[in-house]
Amino acid sequence: MVEAHEPPQSAARPVVLITGASAGLGAALACELARGRRAPTIVLAARRLDRLERLAGELRKIDPTIVAATVAVDLADPEGPGRLAREVVDRFGGVDVLINNAGLGLPTQFAEADPGLIARQVAVNLTAPLLLTRHCLPSLVGRRGQIINIGSAITCVANSALGAYGATKAGLAYWNDALRRELAGTGVRVCLVEPGPIRTEFMDAIESMVTDGGRTDPILDNAAPWMTAEVWDVSRRVVGLLDRPRRRISMLRRLVWPFRLLGVIARLCPPLGDRVVVTLSRRPLSSPATAKDAP
Ligand SMILES: NC(=O)c1ccc[n+]([C@@H]2O[C@H](COP(=O)([O-])OP(=O)(O)OC[C@H]3O[C@@H](n4cnc5c(N)ncnc54)[C@H](OP(=O)(O)O)[C@@H]3O)[C@@H](O)[C@H]2O)c1
Repeated sequence: MVEAHEPPQSAARPVVLITGASAGLGAALACELARGRRAPTIVLAARRLDRLERLAGELRKIDPTIVAATVAVDLADPEGPGRLAREVVDRFGGVDVLINNAGLGLPTQFAEADPGLIARQVAVNLTAPLLLTRHCLPSLVGRRGQIINIGSAITCVANSALGAYGATKAGLAYWNDALRRELAGTGVRVCLVEPGPIRTEFMDAIESMVTDGGRTDPILDNAAPWMTAEVWDVSRRVVGLLDRPRRRISMLRRLVWPFRLLGVIARLCPPLGDRVVVTLSRRPLSSPATAKDAP
């Protein structure tokens, strides 16, 4: 158990740190927070500083009383999470709410994936949330704060088109639950959000890579538009966790039920599960690329 290094503080102006705030869900979360009544200090972190600065300006227009700060950080850099945590604690005295949102998907089959990109994905999606949380933990415990981890509904069923991505999110979910239990009694709330498909640059990137590869993935294709959530809907529900913390929420339930159903089938009858997922997913590889040849 980590000891609190700071005395309990009143979070009259809570400090909310959002990773991956330069786009998609992270940016929408920041806007939703700014529209709330807490007048928080919002720290926006990602690599693209120009976007973060633009967003900070928009947040100040929404509510001139809020503090919006930016930190440029590459979370794939092993030093990134520690540097980010130190900067926020030095500038604002601590963290009340940590939203581990930054993430990236690689829609290549594992055997075709660039090993360097796989390592980057694991670093951003899994290693960085763990390290950042560890660095922020003394402050979070001292302030009886909150950790919100953005996972994915993809963990319902192993999808051969997104195997490495799903592995990072499954790891995140395991650690989320373990941490929640470890921190029981400290006053720190730990919540896991598992969205289904959301229309953001994340989906655009996956679709363009799938299209560039000349193949389609019916699971992903069928995700739009009827299963795709609006980013504003998702951000509203995530920010709602600040007032009503929950262990785990799916976004939005009706949008992920086919994944859940597929997961149940795969667990009850693995051969049938394999057949359904392989049929719905991309064609099996005939010959895996060597790591050197991989794109
Ligand atoms: N969209 C979906 O369908 C969907 C579904 C389920 C779960 N999710 C999860 O939701 C979260 C947000 O996704 P999104 O849809 O909003 O994606 P997005 O629009 O692509 O935004 C991803 C964010 O992550 C940041 N990021 C990526 N690599 C980074 C790095 N090395 N260091 C720091 N920041 C980095 C990006 O900022 P920079 O590029 O500026 O660094 C960007 O702000 C992710 O964890 C994703 O896995 C998304």
